[in-house]
Amino acid sequence: MPLIGTKEMFKKAAEGGYAIGAFNINNMEIVQAITDAAAKLQSPVILQASAGARKYAKGPYLRHLVEAALEVNDIPVALHLDHGADFETCKSCIDDGFTSVMIDASHHSFQENIEITKKVVEYAHARNVCVEAELGQLAGIEDDVNVSAANAKYTQPEEVEEFVSKTGVDSLAIAIGTSHGAFKFTPEQCTRNADGVLVPPELRFDILAEIEKRIPGFAIVLHGASSVIPKYVKIINENGGKMKDAVGIPEDQLRKAAKSAVCKINIDSDLRLAMTAGIREHFIAHPDHFDPRQYITDGRAYVQELVEHKIKEVLGSDGKAVEVLALVK
Ligand code: G3H
Ligand code: 13P
Ligand code: ZN
Repeated sequence: MPLIGTKEMFKKAAEGGYAIGAFNINNMEIVQAITDAAAKLQSPVILQASAGARKYAKGPYLRHLVEAALEVNDIPVALHLDHGADFETCKSCIDDGFTSVMIDASHHSFQENIEITKKVVEYAHARNVCVEAELGQLAGIEDDVNVSAANAKYTQPEEVEEFVSKTGVDSLAIAIGTSHGAFKFTPEQCTRNADGVLVPPELRFDILAEIEKRIPGFAIVLHGASSVIPKYVKIINENGGKMKDAVGIPEDQLRKAAKSAVCKINIDSDLRLAMTAGIREHFIAHPDHFDPRQYITDGRAYVQELVEHKIKEVLGSDGKAVEVLALVK
């Protein structure tokens, strides 16, 4: 099964009221865990690589790892550039065989964002590659793009029609209160529930609804959408880690988003936590082990468990591989 773009995935997700998981990849075990989970549940999936991931894995490794996964599993997979900082980065991924790219020019002025995005769209569409852009800015740290929490800007709904029509972009990442990383909110921004667990402020579903009204049927993307699942944070902290007050986006809010115009939900931090939990737990249980295959196997198992959970309980994309494959074959 060759790599596919995101167009058909988003069409089906929008019609069916579910979302496609976009999981960040950095090494072989992460690619295996995600694609094995997706294959087991017959789910379409997006594998995305940041500039940092490409630098870490070096050269063509990530694309070949993804191609190897497709030799093993017959599921619809798109390979996407996460947070492309400029035209050159997007071009290099398109030339390298990525089927989708994000141009993140959201920190530029509105007009500059339109111009940069349009240039990427022209290059990408001529080569049958899909393009995601961003309007509004998330708090937290994006690859090469630092935005302080104080400057976080929600997407302005009145800008979306002009942006989408002038750029010809295929999907739009919006800012409605999510942010990157495992510490999305300070304890001061949260309340505590009866069990003492931090509860963050609700996402701005009113902004999402307004955007949906203005560009009906258009694919919306949520970045910074890890839940920072307490189970993995607990395992990390019980096995020598220090991740006090890590907090993410509650899963009920992500389920609600997946049923709306949100077609793509980005998850990276949750994968990192699951991998780290498995490895830390392994080292505490087996202090004599030093073969990487032993401890990384446990990390990989937790990543697969996590992705299965996301597909079934949050995204609702299980069993949807067949309808996407029917559109591309
Ligand atoms: O949005 C950011 C992603 O989590 C990628 O993070 O740049 O550390 O690979 P990274
Ligand atoms: P998280 O840090 O919430 O996993 O977000 C990842 C992301 O948005 C990648 O683009
Ligand atoms: Zn992101």
